Amino acid sequence: MYLYTPMKIVELLKQPIAKEMELFEEKFSEAMRSHVALLNRITYYIVNRKGKQMRPMFVFLVAKMLEENGVNERSYRAASVIELIHTATLVHDDVVDESYQRRGFFSINALWKNKIAVLVGDYLLSKGLLLCIDNKDYDLLEIISVAVREMSQGELLQIEKTRRLDIDEDVYKEIIRQKTATLIASCCALGAASVHSSETVTEQMRSFGENIGMAFQIKDDLFDYGDKKIGKPLGIDIREKKMTLPLIHVLNSCDDKDKKWLLESVRHYNKDKKRVRQVIAYVKEHGGLAYAEAQMHAYKDMAIKQLHNFSKNPFRDSLEEMVCYVIERKK
Ligand code: IPE
Ligand code: IPE
Ligand code: MG
Ligand code: MG
Repeated sequence: MYLYTPMKIVELLKQPIAKEMELFEEKFSEAMRSHVALLNRITYYIVNRKGKQMRPMFVFLVAKMLEENGVNERSYRAASVIELIHTATLVHDDVVDESYQRRGFFSINALWKNKIAVLVGDYLLSKGLLLCIDNKDYDLLEIISVAVREMSQGELLQIEKTRRLDIDEDVYKEIIRQKTATLIASCCALGAASVHSSETVTEQMRSFGENIGMAFQIKDDLFDYGDKKIGKPLGIDIREKKMTLPLIHVLNSCDDKDKKWLLESVRHYNKDKKRVRQVIAYVKEHGGLAYAEAQMHAYKDMAIKQLHNFSKNPFRDSLEEMVCYVIERKK
């Protein structure tokens, strides 16, 4: 009997850039290599549990949309740097969030503890930056360094707000812009810069990526309210006093009594599983998820509109599919 196993959507999306992705994977694992056996064991573990690789995909698709034969050595380096930095921030993020699962397996801090995870994150970050420096890709380095600064600022702003619980929608958007959207913006800007696009086009691509990134993080925050297996823990945002768009919206629209109860729950009962479940149920009943979904769609629509300023070609179509995938993905 012929057994048909449907291909994962993300794998289908990779098909137009299959050759580039294959070469990228080789270069990416090469870029992590070290002389320290412990580090090699850990990077081996990381490479074998790869994520969706959406960021390198954006680099290549943007490069190819702008210049059909455009992908060059700079594009490959840009893709590797971005994935190195993304990986470094995930390793650090799991330490910060005390999260023990990533990509369906144990996180680095779960297996090797915080000390090693912090150092591995730093190592990956430095390898990313050096890849640009060694090849004198200073224009790419500038784009990336901005993203690195923004990401750490975003995470710190988030911590500041979780301590005071005074986060409103504008602050939430600023946090996710910094911690997530700037990196995806950089992917698109790098794709353009790697094929020597003009500053105007590079900026247009950066802005397109930023809107994708906003939609991307709202989606990630929505997962936390769900019960579908996504390869990382669910329901941990409230436990970590992290207030995201669904809760923020409900806090802004409920009466004072409920607001007091919600804030009290996050402040003092964040580790109480039953109370957290009640908060999640309240957010759902009061339209918090629907509101966040509408915002996510608005960012997606803006991104598509920006994409349509460029002439249609197969790679523009693939990028459009990628943008839709960002908000429809299952993990
Ligand atoms: C996770 O990013 C971190 C966020 C910015 C939410 P991804 O969902 O792209 O992670 P992987 O690389 O596919 O695991
Ligand atoms: C996103 O933050 C990770 C970074 C941008 C560093 P989250 O803490 O929300 O991401 P996940 O859910 O752990 O992947
Ligand atoms: Mg996290
Ligand atoms: Mg999250």
